[in-house]
Amino acid sequence: MLTKLFGTKSTASQILDPNNIPHHVAIIMDGNGRWAKRRGLPRAMGHRAGADVLKKIARAADKIGIKVLTVYGFSTENWKRPETEVSFLMNLIGEYLRKNVQEMHANGVRIRFIGDIAGLNEGLQTIIRDAEALTADNKGLILQLAINYGGRDEIVRAAKSLARAVAKGQMQVDDIDESVFAENLYTYDCSNVDLLIRPSDDYRISNFLLWQLAYAEFWFTPLHWPDFDESTLVEAVAAYQKRERRFGGLVSEE
Ligand code: IPE
Ligand code: IPE
Ligand code: MG
Repeated sequence: MLTKLFGTKSTASQILDPNNIPHHVAIIMDGNGRWAKRRGLPRAMGHRAGADVLKKIARAADKIGIKVLTVYGFSTENWKRPETEVSFLMNLIGEYLRKNVQEMHANGVRIRFIGDIAGLNEGLQTIIRDAEALTADNKGLILQLAINYGGRDEIVRAAKSLARAVAKGQMQVDDIDESVFAENLYTYDCSNVDLLIRPSDDYRISNFLLWQLAYAEFWFTPLHWPDFDESTLVEAVAAYQKRERRFGGLVSEE
Protein backbone atom coordinates (compact mmCIF):
# COMPACT_ATOMS: atom_id res chain seq x y z
CA MET A 1 0.00 0.00 0.00
CA LEU A 2 2.68 2.46 1.05
CA THR A 3 4.89 1.59 -1.91
CA LYS A 4 1.91 2.25 -4.12
CA LEU A 5 1.31 5.60 -2.48
CA PHE A 6 4.96 6.55 -2.77
CA GLY A 7 4.87 5.55 -6.41
CA THR A 8 2.43 8.41 -6.89
CA LYS A 9 4.59 10.74 -4.73
CA SER A 10 2.05 11.22 -1.98
CA THR A 11 2.97 13.82 0.58
CA ALA A 12 3.51 13.24 4.27
CA SER A 13 0.29 15.05 5.10
CA GLN A 14 -1.72 12.56 3.01
CA ILE A 15 -0.18 9.55 4.73
CA LEU A 16 0.61 10.51 8.31
CA ASP A 17 -1.68 11.03 11.26
CA PRO A 18 -0.76 14.52 12.51
CA ASN A 19 -1.86 13.54 16.02
CA ASN A 20 0.65 10.72 16.31
CA ILE A 21 3.95 12.15 15.13
CA PRO A 22 6.92 10.81 17.14
CA HIS A 23 8.26 13.63 19.30
CA HIS A 24 11.88 12.42 19.32
CA VAL A 25 13.40 10.51 16.41
CA ALA A 26 16.96 9.15 16.47
CA ILE A 27 18.88 8.03 13.39
CA ILE A 28 22.08 5.98 13.11
CA MET A 29 23.44 7.49 9.89
CA ASP A 30 25.11 4.31 8.70
CA GLY A 31 26.21 2.81 5.40
CA ASN A 32 28.17 5.69 3.87
CA GLY A 33 31.15 3.43 3.19
CA ARG A 34 29.08 0.66 1.58
CA TRP A 35 27.21 3.22 -0.52
CA ALA A 36 30.53 4.52 -1.86
CA LYS A 37 31.99 1.05 -2.39
CA ARG A 38 29.00 0.01 -4.46
CA ARG A 39 29.73 2.93 -6.77
CA GLY A 40 33.46 2.30 -6.88
CA LEU A 41 34.07 5.56 -5.00
CA PRO A 42 36.33 6.25 -2.00
CA ARG A 43 34.61 6.00 1.40
CA ALA A 44 35.07 9.74 1.86
CA MET A 45 32.62 10.38 -0.98
CA GLY A 46 30.05 8.35 0.90
CA HIS A 47 30.53 10.51 3.99
CA ARG A 48 30.12 13.63 1.90
CA ALA A 49 26.91 12.31 0.34
CA GLY A 50 25.70 11.38 3.84
CA ALA A 51 26.24 14.92 5.10
CA ASP A 52 24.10 16.29 2.24
CA VAL A 53 21.32 13.89 3.17
CA LEU A 54 21.32 15.07 6.78
CA LYS A 55 20.48 18.57 5.62
CA LYS A 56 17.44 17.33 3.71
CA ILE A 57 16.25 15.01 6.43
CA ALA A 58 16.45 17.70 9.11
CA ARG A 59 14.22 19.89 6.95
CA ALA A 60 11.82 17.01 6.31
CA ALA A 61 11.66 16.12 10.01
CA ASP A 62 10.70 19.67 10.88
CA LYS A 63 8.05 19.71 8.16
CA ILE A 64 6.51 16.46 9.41
CA GLY A 65 6.29 17.89 12.93
CA ILE A 66 9.06 15.95 14.67
CA LYS A 67 10.37 18.08 17.55
CA VAL A 68 13.71 16.46 18.33
CA LEU A 69 16.01 14.74 15.84
CA THR A 70 19.14 13.08 17.23
CA VAL A 71 21.64 11.78 14.69
CA TYR A 72 24.70 9.60 15.24
CA GLY A 73 27.65 11.14 13.40
CA PHE A 74 30.74 9.75 15.13
CA SER A 75 30.93 7.21 17.94
CA THR A 76 33.51 6.83 20.71
CA GLU A 77 34.46 3.61 18.88
CA ASN A 78 34.93 5.27 15.48
CA TRP A 79 38.43 6.44 16.57
CA LYS A 80 39.49 2.85 15.72
CA ARG A 81 39.24 3.73 12.01
CA PRO A 82 42.28 4.72 9.96
CA GLU A 83 43.63 8.17 10.85
CA THR A 84 42.90 9.47 7.34
CA GLU A 85 39.20 8.58 7.62
CA VAL A 86 38.93 10.02 11.14
CA SER A 87 40.49 13.33 10.13
CA PHE A 88 38.33 13.48 7.00
CA LEU A 89 35.23 13.01 9.15
CA MET A 90 36.33 15.69 11.64
CA ASN A 91 36.95 18.17 8.82
CA LEU A 92 33.63 17.28 7.25
CA ILE A 93 31.75 18.00 10.48
CA GLY A 94 33.40 21.44 10.71
CA GLU A 95 32.75 22.16 7.04
CA TYR A 96 29.13 21.03 7.36
CA LEU A 97 28.57 23.42 10.22
CA ARG A 98 30.34 26.35 8.59
CA LYS A 99 28.23 25.91 5.45
CA ASN A 100 24.85 25.21 7.01
CA VAL A 101 24.53 26.83 10.41
CA GLN A 102 23.26 30.18 9.11
CA GLU A 103 20.52 28.54 7.06
CA MET A 104 19.50 26.28 9.93
CA HIS A 105 19.43 29.31 12.22
CA ALA A 106 17.18 31.14 9.74
CA ASN A 107 14.86 28.11 9.82
CA GLY A 108 14.63 28.24 13.62
CA VAL A 109 16.64 25.05 14.24
CA ARG A 110 18.26 24.68 17.65
CA ILE A 111 21.57 22.85 17.19
CA ARG A 112 22.99 20.86 20.06
CA PHE A 113 25.84 18.43 20.39
CA ILE A 114 25.89 15.33 22.53
CA GLY A 115 29.08 13.43 23.23
CA ASP A 116 32.55 14.14 24.57
CA ILE A 117 33.06 17.43 22.75
CA ALA A 118 36.13 18.24 24.87
CA GLY A 119 37.83 15.29 23.17
CA LEU A 120 37.63 16.97 19.73
CA ASN A 121 40.19 19.37 18.30
CA GLU A 122 40.07 22.99 19.47
CA GLY A 123 38.99 24.41 16.13
CA LEU A 124 36.02 22.08 15.89
CA GLN A 125 35.09 22.75 19.51
CA THR A 126 34.89 26.47 18.74
CA ILE A 127 32.68 25.90 15.69
CA ILE A 128 30.43 23.66 17.80
CA ARG A 129 30.15 26.14 20.67
CA ASP A 130 29.39 28.98 18.23
CA ALA A 131 26.67 26.97 16.49
CA GLU A 132 25.06 26.09 19.81
CA ALA A 133 25.23 29.66 21.08
CA LEU A 134 23.87 31.18 17.86
CA THR A 135 20.84 28.87 17.77
CA ALA A 136 20.22 28.45 21.52
CA ASP A 137 17.05 30.56 21.61
CA ASN A 138 15.46 29.14 18.48
CA LYS A 139 12.09 27.50 18.86
CA GLY A 140 12.02 25.09 15.91
CA LEU A 141 13.41 21.58 15.51
CA ILE A 142 16.02 20.53 18.07
CA LEU A 143 18.79 18.90 16.05
CA GLN A 144 21.15 16.93 18.28
CA LEU A 145 24.36 15.82 16.64
CA ALA A 146 26.04 12.92 18.43
CA ILE A 147 29.76 13.39 17.89
CA ASN A 148 32.37 11.45 19.86
CA TYR A 149 29.31 9.95 21.50
CA GLY A 150 29.05 6.63 23.33
CA GLY A 151 26.02 5.49 25.30
CA ARG A 152 28.11 3.73 27.94
CA ASP A 153 30.43 6.72 28.27
CA GLU A 154 27.40 8.98 28.75
CA ILE A 155 26.01 6.77 31.53
CA VAL A 156 29.39 6.57 33.30
CA ARG A 157 29.68 10.38 33.14
CA ALA A 158 26.21 10.80 34.66
CA ALA A 159 27.09 8.32 37.43
CA LYS A 160 30.32 10.21 38.17
CA SER A 161 28.64 13.59 38.29
CA LEU A 162 26.00 12.30 40.71
CA ALA A 163 28.69 10.61 42.84
CA ARG A 164 30.58 13.92 42.99
CA ALA A 165 27.45 15.79 44.06
CA VAL A 166 26.87 13.23 46.83
CA ALA A 167 30.52 13.41 47.94
CA LYS A 168 30.26 17.21 48.18
CA GLY A 169 27.10 16.87 50.26
CA GLN A 170 24.99 18.59 47.58
CA MET A 171 22.59 15.64 47.46
CA GLN A 172 21.78 12.35 49.20
CA VAL A 173 22.14 8.92 47.58
CA ASP A 174 18.41 8.42 47.95
CA ASP A 175 17.72 11.60 45.96
CA ILE A 176 18.89 9.71 42.88
CA ASP A 177 16.01 8.29 40.89
CA GLU A 178 15.40 7.71 37.19
CA SER A 179 14.43 11.29 36.47
CA VAL A 180 17.43 12.75 38.33
CA PHE A 181 19.68 10.31 36.47
CA ALA A 182 18.15 11.27 33.11
CA GLU A 183 18.73 14.96 33.86
CA ASN A 184 22.45 14.18 34.15
CA LEU A 185 22.68 12.72 30.66
CA TYR A 186 23.65 14.78 27.61
CA THR A 187 19.98 14.67 26.60
CA TYR A 188 18.90 16.17 29.94
CA ASP A 189 15.54 17.56 28.75
CA CYS A 190 14.60 15.09 26.01
CA SER A 191 15.71 11.70 27.17
CA ASN A 192 13.00 9.47 25.70
CA VAL A 193 13.36 8.46 22.07
CA ASP A 194 10.12 7.47 20.33
CA LEU A 195 11.51 6.11 17.08
CA LEU A 196 14.97 4.80 16.22
CA ILE A 197 15.88 4.45 12.55
CA ARG A 198 18.88 2.45 11.34
CA PRO A 199 19.60 2.15 7.64
CA SER A 200 22.02 -0.20 5.87
CA ASP A 201 20.71 -3.59 6.99
CA ASP A 202 22.49 -3.77 10.34
CA TYR A 203 20.35 -4.62 13.34
CA ARG A 204 22.22 -3.27 16.34
CA ILE A 205 22.46 -0.01 18.25
CA SER A 206 26.27 0.32 18.27
CA ASN A 207 26.40 2.10 21.65
CA PHE A 208 23.86 4.79 20.69
CA LEU A 209 21.47 6.27 23.30
CA LEU A 210 21.40 3.19 25.53
CA TRP A 211 19.30 4.78 28.25
CA GLN A 212 17.10 6.84 25.93
CA LEU A 213 16.04 3.91 23.72
CA ALA A 214 14.43 1.98 26.58
CA TYR A 215 10.94 2.14 25.00
CA ALA A 216 11.72 3.39 21.50
CA GLU A 217 10.19 1.73 18.46
CA PHE A 218 12.88 0.43 16.06
CA TRP A 219 12.70 0.70 12.28
CA PHE A 220 15.32 -0.69 9.90
CA THR A 221 15.83 -0.32 6.17
CA PRO A 222 18.35 -1.87 3.77
CA LEU A 223 18.91 1.54 2.15
CA HIS A 224 22.29 3.11 2.86
CA TRP A 225 22.18 6.51 4.55
CA PRO A 226 23.14 8.49 1.41
CA ASP A 227 20.10 6.95 -0.36
CA PHE A 228 17.76 7.97 2.44
CA ASP A 229 15.26 10.69 1.51
CA GLU A 230 12.12 12.39 2.75
CA SER A 231 9.91 9.51 1.59
CA THR A 232 12.04 7.05 3.63
CA LEU A 233 11.46 9.18 6.72
CA VAL A 234 7.73 9.31 6.01
CA GLU A 235 7.73 5.52 5.57
CA ALA A 236 9.44 5.08 8.95
CA VAL A 237 6.98 7.40 10.70
CA ALA A 238 4.04 5.66 8.99
CA ALA A 239 5.35 2.31 10.31
CA TYR A 240 5.71 3.86 13.77
CA GLN A 241 2.09 4.98 13.64
CA LYS A 242 0.98 1.38 13.15
CA ARG A 243 2.80 0.18 16.26
CA GLU A 244 1.04 -0.26 19.56
CA ARG A 245 3.21 1.10 22.36
CA ARG A 246 2.39 -0.58 25.63
CA PHE A 247 5.27 0.50 27.90
CA GLY A 248 4.85 -2.73 29.84
CA GLY A 249 1.11 -2.21 30.30
CA LEU A 250 -1.77 -3.97 28.61
CA VAL A 251 -3.43 -3.46 25.25
CA SER A 252 -5.96 -0.66 25.64
CA GLU A 253 -9.63 -1.82 25.62
CA GLU A 254 -11.50 -0.93 22.46
C1 IPE B 1 28.49 5.83 8.89
O1 IPE B 1 28.92 5.16 7.75
C2 IPE B 1 29.36 7.02 9.21
C3 IPE B 1 30.20 6.84 10.40
C4 IPE B 1 30.26 5.79 11.16
C5 IPE B 1 31.06 7.94 10.74
P1 IPE B 1 30.06 4.06 7.79
O2 IPE B 1 31.37 4.72 7.54
O3 IPE B 1 30.01 3.27 9.04
O4 IPE B 1 29.65 3.17 6.55
P2 IPE B 1 29.73 1.61 6.46
O5 IPE B 1 28.97 1.04 7.63
O6 IPE B 1 31.19 1.24 6.49
O7 IPE B 1 29.08 1.29 5.16
C1 IPE C 1 27.51 3.61 14.15
O1 IPE C 1 27.94 3.05 12.97
C2 IPE C 1 28.09 4.98 14.33
C3 IPE C 1 27.65 5.99 13.37
C4 IPE C 1 26.81 5.82 12.39
C5 IPE C 1 28.19 7.30 13.58
P1 IPE C 1 29.22 2.10 12.90
O2 IPE C 1 29.44 1.81 11.47
O3 IPE C 1 30.34 2.68 13.67
O4 IPE C 1 28.67 0.82 13.68
P2 IPE C 1 29.18 -0.69 13.65
O5 IPE C 1 30.68 -0.66 13.76
O6 IPE C 1 28.75 -1.26 12.34
O7 IPE C 1 28.48 -1.34 14.81
MG1 MG D 1 28.99 1.58 9.57
